[in-house]
Amino acid sequence: MTFAAVPHSVRVRAPGKLNVFLGVGDVGVDGYHPLATVFQAVSLYEDVHAYPAEGFSVEIPGASEQLPLDDRNLAVRAARLLATATGHPGGVHLEIRKSVPVAGGMGGGSADAAAALVACDALWETGLSNSALHELAAQLGADVPFALHGGTAVGTGRGDVLNPVLAHGRFDWVLVTSEQGLSTPTVYARLDAYRAEHAALADDPLEQLEVPIPMLQALRSGDAHALAATVANDLQVAAVLEMPLLEDILAAGMRAGALTGVVSGSGPTVAFLGESAEHASKVQSELQAIGLNALHVHGPVPGARVVV
Ligand code: C5P
Repeated sequence: MTFAAVPHSVRVRAPGKLNVFLGVGDVGVDGYHPLATVFQAVSLYEDVHAYPAEGFSVEIPGASEQLPLDDRNLAVRAARLLATATGHPGGVHLEIRKSVPVAGGMGGGSADAAAALVACDALWETGLSNSALHELAAQLGADVPFALHGGTAVGTGRGDVLNPVLAHGRFDWVLVTSEQGLSTPTVYARLDAYRAEHAALADDPLEQLEVPIPMLQALRSGDAHALAATVANDLQVAAVLEMPLLEDILAAGMRAGALTGVVSGSGPTVAFLGESAEHASKVQSELQAIGLNALHVHGPVPGARVVV
């Protein structure tokens, strides 16, 4: 005997991301910078619980005041976009449990939006295909499609055109988070200003707008040392100019024995690569001992998924 499966609520978990490579081109007329990036989803998650409701609302227990709880919230915008796209008449109440640092360059808001899309699609039984969800995700923000996708992927365009990367094994990262966040548009604008100032000396950034082959080989082989040699982020210089403390954090991670350190996305989270789980735990302990907030995570992990 089967029962009509009308769920009372749906819980979806979506990961935060690191950009293990981030090449940034010159800003386009749409205000966005073309990217060549490699995303890796890591084991730091946002949990979004969706309950049937007439209107659209969100609660984030323990959230700081910088997070909007009205229609500016990206998860609410995701739910509304799905309702409009499918003609679904009802609403949803979303409860978000956050673990990804807010405004940390790890795509936490994007993970919330991706999780809300998947949760509402299941709750409302709107049955969208992966590609239809991807299209809605790209309308919400450049990093939202990757939070749906997960794993390791090359992102081009605004970072929303994804191609999966063959990655073997697991990479262990130590993340140092900052209490203060950085604004993504501010960091991109800082990079534009920096490049304009250094125009005479700079290489043509468009020439660099490709993921280096050695990076793809390192991901395929699962070799942390080879990966460390190719990790890079064009936004790092701008993030450091916005928050000079990041320079000290990067130096502290290297002193603690990390294979490499890089600012994640637009920062300010800094990611340090360990040789193994044990080695990363050691780096984490050393960074904690000097008073930094250091988390040990691993990647790649899957994208937004319904959990029971
Ligand atoms: O798409 P998202 O809302 O995440 O982007 C926030 C802002 O970051 C954009 O409005 C833009 O100023 C900047 N951005 C950019 N180039 C990208 C991604 C984001 O300039 N590829």
